[in-house]
Amino acid sequence: MWQYYDYDELGSTNDKAIELTTKATGEKIAVTAEMQTGGRGRRGRRWVGAKGNLFLSLALPFELKNCGALVLISGLALLELIKEVAPQSDVVLKWPNDVLLDDGKISGILLEKGEAGYMIVGIGINVKIAPITDAVYKVNSLANAGLLFDRQEIKDMYLRHFDELLDYWQQQGMPALVKRWLQYAKGIGSPIEVKMPNTTKDGIFAGLNEDGLLILQTEQGQEVISAGDIFFKEEGIKR
Ligand code: BTN
Repeated sequence: MWQYYDYDELGSTNDKAIELTTKATGEKIAVTAEMQTGGRGRRGRRWVGAKGNLFLSLALPFELKNCGALVLISGLALLELIKEVAPQSDVVLKWPNDVLLDDGKISGILLEKGEAGYMIVGIGINVKIAPITDAVYKVNSLANAGLLFDRQEIKDMYLRHFDELLDYWQQQGMPALVKRWLQYAKGIGSPIEVKMPNTTKDGIFAGLNEDGLLILQTEQGQEVISAGDIFFKEEGIKR
């Protein structure tokens, strides 16, 4: 069961979720806002708050050392939601947790640390609108692909898939979760560029290890990468 809070407007649902963890005592908390004015993205980017889209933050007691599981679960939950409502859709996962529908990014996920042993999973889903951004990737929305739902319906379905995957990971373990994620991974075996905070590396996307970290095959051998943005080299500038 999730303790659910919905607001008309927030700066960032992640900030509100972090604030709520200061008084939390083990319950799972979900926060949404109809409008988000200061949404945060990864690497200091911003996340556009277009009305009709879903801005959701989940706060749950979670050990930092298991965060690799949350990274995979958070993206896979949305992919499996889309596969459930539109089994034929062209939807894939781009490591670490982007979901691409018809090759356009339809969501963004930001994991942050809460208080008192909580982790925060912040997810923005382009339900109605694919905001025009200055980012280098293509964007899409569920509505644009003919999937007409409102943000509350998507939130309920997302929580159901998220819970199911959390149970799956708790019962089956990380290798089984990684295997389930890999079924939908974009570009295994393809040349990629991995952008990290201070460096960029080229190689072949060789898969994920049992902790969900990226394995990059380079001329020097295999490297394990824990965080970065990947770009597929055979595509154009808009990736
Ligand atoms: C990304 O850069 O791809 C991650 C974007 C994460 C955006 C979501 S929207 C809900 C939650 N609140 C925030 O401020 N950020 C996340």
